[in-house]
Amino acid sequence: LRHRRSVLTSSKRSYFMSLREKMDITDQVWSELHLRAVNAMKQAYAPYSGYPVGAACLTRDGQYYSGCNVENAAYGVGLCAECGMVSDMIKDGRSEIIAFAAVNGEELPVVPCGRCRQLLSEHMTSDAMVEIPAGILPFSSVMPFSFGKTDLNEVSTSTFQEQ
Ligand code: THU
Repeated sequence: LRHRRSVLTSSKRSYFMSLREKMDITDQVWSELHLRAVNAMKQAYAPYSGYPVGAACLTRDGQYYSGCNVENAAYGVGLCAECGMVSDMIKDGRSEIIAFAAVNGEELPVVPCGRCRQLLSEHMTSDAMVEIPAGILPFSSVMPFSFGKTDLNEVSTSTFQEQ
């Protein structure tokens, strides 16, 4: 009996270890995100600000998406890199981001603007990590107390329904 119990315990332990390893975002993933963000940044259309941005993410099921900023002569309608990236991901039927990184024209990390943090927050898993100039941090620490779907359910007149 003791033997069986120890076998069970060790198989349980390895199950949880492999689960944890899967959740861990490896250096290889951060390199891949950086590379994809740089490639996207090179395609940016940013003649007005001279500040090209590329953004990239990895979804829970292992897919990468990226986007670049697209500016406009009517300055206010310009799109951030995150907009293109999120659109690319949603169009592909995915929405669970586990890791995110963005770079500027010097290939250095960019912190997402306030609007893009809101855009991202809808699609970030609770344990998602982001690379920003301050380091690799949980998204929840970069955007605490964010407004989300659950807030819509707090009022009885809300027409919001989970899809
Ligand atoms: N930009 C992004 O694409 N993402 C951000 O999170 C920060 C800002 C773009 C918008 C604009 O085209 C340029 O950077 C300068 O603000």
